[in-house]
Amino acid sequence: MRQPLIAGNWKLNGTRNSVVELASEISAGAASLPVEVLVCPVVVHLADVLAVVGNSPVHLGAQNCSEARTGAYTGEVSADMLQEFGCEYVILGHSERRALYHETSEQIAQKCLSVQQAGMTPVLCVGETLEEREAGQVEAVIAAQLDAMLEAGGVDAFRQMVVAYEPVWAIGTGKTASPEEAQAVHAMIRQKISSQNADIASALRILYGGSVKADNAASLFGQADIDGGLVGGAALDATSFLAICEAAASTVEKTAS
Ligand code: PGA
Repeated sequence: MRQPLIAGNWKLNGTRNSVVELASEISAGAASLPVEVLVCPVVVHLADVLAVVGNSPVHLGAQNCSEARTGAYTGEVSADMLQEFGCEYVILGHSERRALYHETSEQIAQKCLSVQQAGMTPVLCVGETLEEREAGQVEAVIAAQLDAMLEAGGVDAFRQMVVAYEPVWAIGTGKTASPEEAQAVHAMIRQKISSQNADIASALRILYGGSVKADNAASLFGQADIDGGLVGGAALDATSFLAICEAAASTVEKTAS
């Protein structure tokens, strides 16, 4: 059985004090839940957040990293450096990085490999824009994003990986894909990996992201191929983030009973 993962993508938010407060509230509230909880602050807040979550079950992740391991790359941060700061996960290929910083699927695949070489797990984000959805290209767009990873690392690269399906039109907009719309894409992603290796596909956690809130989380997480969420806005408030974690926990309890 796949343990649900709820990941908070804090994006470019917070101060040293506010992230410590948020991390403390989340650590206290998440301690007894049967789900994996991950928080991803900006890099300069990693040490402060690690000091809070280090002795709790909450995991630490980053929002991006360089594909290069070391060298003349001014302003970059490598996977090994993030690992040294206690990170276990790195979000890669977020649509904001693809759109605003022109990251290509090939570059993102190299970043994923770099993160795996450093012993961490990439959270590989995929998703279509509204124009692509309206043009009937959802499957083709996501297949191409996954193909870049398959070409760079083969299906084995998906052993130590989390995939996050985030329709671009649902991110930060308050519009969510319906549970059925999301499930259809998640099933397609799993099927694509399964066509190369069924065991890897059935162990692969596929998160949904895009305006996940406390009131829509349970219906999304109740879908067969949705294994948790990548949460932006609602992750900045401990009460709403913990309510989303609890929604995931209730799906686990339902399956177990
Ligand atoms: P949102 O962001 O929950 O604010 O829509 C999700 C994300 O960007 O990962």
